[in-house]
Parts: sequence; C-alpha cells; structure tokens
Amino acid sequence: MFQLKNVTRQFGKKIAVNSVTFDIPQGQMVGIIGRSGAGKSTLLRMINRLNDVSSGSIHFGDLEVSSLRGAALRNWQRDCAMIFQQFNLVPRLDVLTNVLLGRLNHRSTVLSILNMFTREERIMAIGALERLGIEQTALQPAGTLSGGQQQRVAIARALMQQPKMLLADEPIASLDPLNAKIVMDALRDINERDGITVVTNLHTLDTARNYCERIIGMAHGQVVFDGQPRELTAAAVAEIYGSGAELDESMTSTSISIPAAQDNTKSAGVKPLALAGI
Ligand SMILES: Nc1ncnc2c1ncn2[C@@H]1O[C@H](COP(=O)(O)OP(=O)(O)OP(=O)(O)O)[C@@H](O)[C@H]1O
Ligand SMILES: [Mg+2]
Repeated sequence: MFQLKNVTRQFGKKIAVNSVTFDIPQGQMVGIIGRSGAGKSTLLRMINRLNDVSSGSIHFGDLEVSSLRGAALRNWQRDCAMIFQQFNLVPRLDVLTNVLLGRLNHRSTVLSILNMFTREERIMAIGALERLGIEQTALQPAGTLSGGQQQRVAIARALMQQPKMLLADEPIASLDPLNAKIVMDALRDINERDGITVVTNLHTLDTARNYCERIIGMAHGQVVFDGQPRELTAAAVAEIYGSGAELDESMTSTSISIPAAQDNTKSAGVKPLALAGI
C-alpha cells in the first residue's frame, strides 16, 4: 500500500500541492488530471523524491519515503521508476545503452563507471525492447528515433529498474494519436501483466477515462475528485477544470481512438541478440 498523508509543497509563497491525502493499493492504474499548474508534476516528483515535501509524509508499506536519505533514497528511486513527456534519453547513446542505464542503481559504482554490463543485463535489455516492439532499433542513437519510439525506449529503461511503481508525467503529451495509443497500451500491459502500480499524469480526459481504473482530479494543488471514470460527471469535470469556455471536453481530448494500430517499426530478418553482441 502506498500512502500520502497531508502532503504539501511550497515554492516560496506559492503552494503547488496543498495537503494531499490518498492511498494507492499495489497494482492500481491511476490517472491524475487537472489544468496546467494544478500541481500534478510536483505531486509525482515528490513521490519519487525529485522534489522534497514541505510537510506531510509519503509511505510505501513500512517505508517512510519522504524522509529517506542516501542509499535508501537511491533504492527507492530504483523501485519507483519515472518517465517524462520529453523522454529524457541520452540522444547520442545507442538505444541499448540507454535501456541498460536503467540498471545503474542495481550495480556497483566501479562497474557503472566502466560502463560494463553483464550478458544477463544485455539479454534483459533486449527482452525489454522486444516487449515494446522496438528491438530492431537497439544500435541506433536514441536521438534518431521518432518520439513514440523514444518513449518506448524510456519505458524499456524503466522496466530494467524492475520497479514496484511506475510514474509517468504526461507520457503522451508530445505524441501523435497512434503513438499515444501504443505508449498507453504499453503502460496498461505493464500494469496488468506485471502488477506494477502505474500513476500517470494526463492532460486529456478521454485517455484517463479509457485507461485508468481510478482518476484523481487536482485543482489549485488540492484533490477535488477521486473515483472511478464512470463517477466523473460533468459537475466533477467542471470542478477540476473550472467552469467556462474551456469546459468543452474536446479541449481535453487527443482523440486517441485508433481502429487498428499499425507498427511500421518492425524490420524483417534482424536478430536482436546478434545486434546486441550476444
Ligand atoms: N521549481 C519550481 N519553482 C517554483 N514554482 C514551481 C516550481 N515547480 C512548480 N512550480 C509551481 O507550482 C505550481 C504547480 O506546478 P506543476 O508543474 O506541478 O503543475 P502541473 O499540474 O504539472 O502543470 P502542467 O499541466 O502545466 O504540467 C505552478 O504554479 C508552478 O508554477
Ligand atoms: Mg506538469
């Protein structure tokens, strides 16, 4: 069980997140929605400790996440992987190495400095790329891939951490609808097949409705809705997004519904393990 208790974060006088309290059972897929500036990113960043809390506490089971330091904090950041809108890959490094970087917190500093990865780790990385359907890109510089492919590399890198929780901050905000669907399907698959808790900020209401069993709506740093998609009434939407012209739901939609996802990234005859030098 993951718990936030009265979590607050201030930047100077600005209260970005204001006394947020909720629990997430292991294995849930949760979407966080809200207008720009509502505090969604700050909330996720506190969960994996990219930001510290100003007050309140965050717990994962018996672990008090919000007060971790040193090695214990690094272990938490390994257990709680995060992906971002802008992918955060190293563009000049090849895809395989980018994915292997997800293992850094599992290994000794010396091996990491020498950039030496074991055969098992390389096989694991190829497996993660295969799962995401992009194994044939393994030796390309990450920066040469399309946005959708790059986000899949970032997910593969996150999987290498063997996380208990996966946080995603607007993972599809820079993607076209087809790639958005591929990425959201991948997150759902990781949630359903691996039982990993997924918490994702989404700027589109329809995506949250389609993919998340639970939606948390934020406004002005506070939770103003917490329930199942079917409970998200027009009144609840108005409370989250504010009433007025911007309440048109089409403004919060990417029209992610694609009849049949085509994947043109497969190339015939390439043996990924051979590519990886295995
Ligand atoms: N490092 C920071 N320094 C100062 N203010 C910050 C910082 N990070 C966030 N804020 C402020 O906190 C508030 C919440 O920001 P946050 O990025 O969490 O919102 P958001 O819901 O993720 O918005 P968006 O949808 O635009 O990504 C905003 O008013 C923002 O300007
Ligand atoms: Mg944000």
